[in-house]
Amino acid sequence: MEEAIARLRQWTAESDNIVFFGGAGVSTESGIPDFRSVDGLYHQTYRFPPETILSHSFFKHDPAEFFAFYRDKLIVQDAKPNAAHLKLAQWEQEGKLKAVVTQNIDGLHQMAGSKTVLELHGSVHRCYCEKCRKPYPEAFINEGTGVPRCACGGIVRPDVVLYEEGLDDKIMSDSIRYIQNAEVLIIGGTSLNVYPAAGLINYYHGDKLVLINLSETPADHLANLVIHGKIGEVLSQL
Ligand code: APR
Repeated sequence: MEEAIARLRQWTAESDNIVFFGGAGVSTESGIPDFRSVDGLYHQTYRFPPETILSHSFFKHDPAEFFAFYRDKLIVQDAKPNAAHLKLAQWEQEGKLKAVVTQNIDGLHQMAGSKTVLELHGSVHRCYCEKCRKPYPEAFINEGTGVPRCACGGIVRPDVVLYEEGLDDKIMSDSIRYIQNAEVLIIGGTSLNVYPAAGLINYYHGDKLVLINLSETPADHLANLVIHGKIGEVLSQL
């Protein structure tokens, strides 16, 4: 591990074109459980499989159950950025990192000071009426009960991408462009299970693809450098 971290330290010290692509594993050291680890959200038992609850059709069919799960499991009050978020923000301030592309919806990268953050799956901090598109503060959902309703009668929903919903075209094309041009692509804290996000790795054409993940991923064999460890701990050593 030491040799790998030393190589990563050299690559990142020498580069001013680093791009980071991350997932839920970046926020576990901030106390937010991920989805597919053994203690992750998808291994806990509910009346319905979580990946069913977090789908567009379930949201339409049973909004009361959706919001009960959402308020209980996806809203993590007072979570703070960890060493991983802070290092990425520091690299951006130093002109070394061009963008963070994240699957996370927790806003911790922005809270750490990152400015160019591409949120592939949206954010719990933005809410809107699905009928008239009127924006609402997140407290309207988080501090309410039952199904949050707009004055127009529509349901107020979080700006997160549910299963069966498409990703924002511009966020995807911007993410692809940053990754295509990256000198160093660091992928961290993601099982690379969910497409189209996981497919972004295919747009990287450099020779400094780094994977930092607690467990093995389907892309380990493609990486130029693989570190199986806690991403906050690893990045704090750079
Ligand atoms: N450091 C490094 N890796 C970690 C850490 C950590 N501290 N904690 C967890 N991990 C790893 C786990 O081993 C796992 O492989 O992070 C990965 C998290 O994978 P998932 O739980 O599948 O999360 P993610 O890849 O972000 O899921 C993608 O699935 O349900 C959807 O929309 C949801 O955005 C999410 C998407």
